[in-house]
Amino acid sequence: MSAIDYGERIPNNVDLAGDRALQRALEQWQPDYLAWWHEMGPEASSSLDVYLRTAISVEPSGWANFDYVKMPDYRWGIFLAPRDEARRIHFGEQAGDPAWQEVPGEHRANLRRIIVTQGDTEPASIEQQRHLGLTAPSLYDLRNLFQVNVEEGRHLWAMVYLLHRYFGRDGREEAAALLERRSGDGDNPRILGAFNERTPDWLAFFMFTYFTDRDGKFQLCALAESGFDPLARTTRFMLTEEAHHMFVGESGVARTLQRTAEVMRELGSDDPRAVREAGAIDLATIQRYLNFHYSVTIDLFGADVSSNAATFYSAGLKGRFEEGKRDDDHRLGGMTYRIVEAVDGRLAERDVPMLNALNEVLRDDFIRDSVAGIGRWNRVLEKNGVAARLVVPHKAFNRRIGSLAGVRVSPGGEVVDEQTWRLHERDWLPTADDRAFVASLMGRVVEPGRFAGWIAPPPVGVNRQPIDFAYVRFG
Ligand SMILES: [Fe+2]
Ligand SMILES: [Fe+2]
Repeated sequence: MSAIDYGERIPNNVDLAGDRALQRALEQWQPDYLAWWHEMGPEASSSLDVYLRTAISVEPSGWANFDYVKMPDYRWGIFLAPRDEARRIHFGEQAGDPAWQEVPGEHRANLRRIIVTQGDTEPASIEQQRHLGLTAPSLYDLRNLFQVNVEEGRHLWAMVYLLHRYFGRDGREEAAALLERRSGDGDNPRILGAFNERTPDWLAFFMFTYFTDRDGKFQLCALAESGFDPLARTTRFMLTEEAHHMFVGESGVARTLQRTAEVMRELGSDDPRAVREAGAIDLATIQRYLNFHYSVTIDLFGADVSSNAATFYSAGLKGRFEEGKRDDDHRLGGMTYRIVEAVDGRLAERDVPMLNALNEVLRDDFIRDSVAGIGRWNRVLEKNGVAARLVVPHKAFNRRIGSLAGVRVSPGGEVVDEQTWRLHERDWLPTADDRAFVASLMGRVVEPGRFAGWIAPPPVGVNRQPIDFAYVRFG
């Protein structure tokens, strides 16, 4: 079951050939996908030979296959983690029942919505990142960008397979619509806010893959608990790919900080202007980018009090992060959880029924996980003798969704009036000047082993190749 059949037009480990109608439907969607990739995928990339990994099985060793590929020829396909015949639903009202192999009628609409919402983020991120290849700081980075892009494309395939296989005609319509929405489009945008923001430069890309792909990790972990077994199995395999995306973000920011710290040491100065003049990105700008991507990403978890979240959990559709490791009753009736809201111009805590607060529970798990990596970034500064530290903004800062939307809160967690916000916004969020400066550093570096001046080389190459390996070949 775990071997992948690459003899098929659509590589898969789900015996697609055994279901002719489904195979035909997906083979009709495939050219539309490729047309979308040519139109909205990485710009001017079709003729490049890229050193990419392709899954050869869903076992952990299945990633061993690295080779040069032209991206339109990438073998996008359908891979599910192996089925556990004895698997049971392990949370919600139906805990203890066998996991569903087909969609229960009463949960059809909610499951479709969950799958479409997840699926929509995958092509969205490719659209957001499509210009970045033109300004890659090295071949190593260019290759990592493209690896992330083809894997997000495969994540779209994963969700489209579920829609086609389990949701009939509605599912096919939703699969078509996933190729019609466009990130940032005024008439037909992507579903979630953060996926309509621009990713205009490589600092934004690294912050995006650190924070927003990590949102992906937490959503996928929650779906990997689902009582709908095909969703659980497909998201489990997607998580192995997500780990690499977060690595690209974490190491990209770390290398940016490394270079900034080196420049600060050479200059003997922490003056942002001097750092900029020396061609590195000053820490204040990096902090503002962090503030932006962090706050926009934590909105993705949804409203802090949500009856949908309660329904999804009680119905067994979407669990908590690491549901199986928690030692409560996995039904959560009568339990409470503490949320933060603004009351009379101050932030205050309030206990609400935990079932309704599950978005907040997942957001707080995400926050713990992201804070750990920011600690690792700060160690880069510490090791280089820089006293300044990056700081995680308060979770009420710059929020657009839930109880905290519409109240102005500083990164330190102080409620401020509109005038104070406007006075300080330029210190807290990236300004047009910051973006223009970062953009001015972006220029494509294509000689093997060379890196743009604003970023340090990585400590090791991809797949044990040397750092000056030709990760991308220009035909
Ligand atoms: Fe993804
Ligand atoms: Fe991702």
